[in-house]
Amino acid sequence: MFDSVPPAPPDAILGLNESFQRDDRPGKVNLTVGVYKDESGVTPILDAVKQAERLLVDRETTKSYLSMGGDPEFNRQVRALLLGEQNPAIAEGRAVTIQTPGGTAGLRVAADFLVRNQLSSRIWCSNPTWANHHNVFRSAGLETDGYEYLDESGTRLDAAAMLESLQSIPAGDVVCLHGCCHNPTGVDPSLDDWKRVIEIAQKRRWLPLIDLAYQGFGDGLESDAQVVRRFVESGLELIVVHSYSKNFGLYAERTGAVTLVAESNTAATTAESQLKSAVRANYSNPPKHGAAIVATILSDDVLRRQWLGELATMRERIRKLRSELVAGLAARIADRDFSFIESQRGMFSFSGLTPLQVDQLKSEHAVYIVRSGRINIAGLNASNLDRVCDAIAAVV
Ligand SMILES: Cc1ncc(COP(=O)(O)O)c(C=O)c1O
Repeated sequence: MFDSVPPAPPDAILGLNESFQRDDRPGKVNLTVGVYKDESGVTPILDAVKQAERLLVDRETTKSYLSMGGDPEFNRQVRALLLGEQNPAIAEGRAVTIQTPGGTAGLRVAADFLVRNQLSSRIWCSNPTWANHHNVFRSAGLETDGYEYLDESGTRLDAAAMLESLQSIPAGDVVCLHGCCHNPTGVDPSLDDWKRVIEIAQKRRWLPLIDLAYQGFGDGLESDAQVVRRFVESGLELIVVHSYSKNFGLYAERTGAVTLVAESNTAATTAESQLKSAVRANYSNPPKHGAAIVATILSDDVLRRQWLGELATMRERIRKLRSELVAGLAARIADRDFSFIESQRGMFSFSGLTPLQVDQLKSEHAVYIVRSGRINIAGLNASNLDRVCDAIAAVV
């Protein structure tokens, strides 16, 4: 039976990593992967996380199943992180949250919820978007389509084109929006652009599904939640998928959440029962450890402060690297402006390099970036920055 199964298409980024591992040139640089790296090239375990784990070893009394919606304390804490403790939607019981195994499963559960309840059959994603969005949404049975995002240079937003595309999306469809630190481009709309997006959503009556995978990696924990909070303030119903892989460094612990904000308390409670029903059919109930770490940190003043400090260190390191990269390129390439890299936010930058230039970076300079031109800024450090700037200068 299995003889007839064709091989799955190779994953572009994993394939590049395999080539990188095989490459024996000294000083090779890997800027492909989507994880944070510190100055020494390591994806660290945060101290706040280690301390919370020590507390959990002592405190935990059972490994029995969580409920389908996960840990209620975690859900309460992350909902407040997202919407703000005092958000009226929380006080009115219109915002419900379930814990999910990472943002990916959150997206899947949200999509299943939409399909199972016949709320929608199509979702629109920015063009480009996170490589897995179309894949996850289609697996759940949604049709996917794209809306305009970048200008011709491929490095800045074309706000007019994006807004025009969003205007033409029919009522009842779903629109996937990146709440901050757009992946793969690093290009975020301004707050004025978001104001227009909200007006269009209200007028056209499509449903916003906001993917927030990098809260705290852009301008700050509170600033990065502004977009979500403005949607909620506008009175729109929406779904937010939240990931703690990046901001708590809990990649492998699969820690995320779905928050749904409805018009009424009863609609929210009923929707929550359907979200749980989608969970039951997928993985029954979420894993415990990552959520227990997040809940422990957020409910302990000392650990929370420690985490906020570590998050700020990651964010500021990336911003400093953006400036250093722009300065390094400006010193080498007189006739091209790379200042857009400093306006982009989060871990990634769409560099505007062509696939041919990306291939040359790899073959001639052992510098690996994604073929779309996406650079993981966090992969830069003092020992590889000059080499990367020299390599880019040589290929452009
Ligand atoms: C935009 C976006 N959404 C969702 C995810 C998935 O996050 P998780 O690792 O928590 O499943 C990622 C991860 O890179 C992402 O960049």
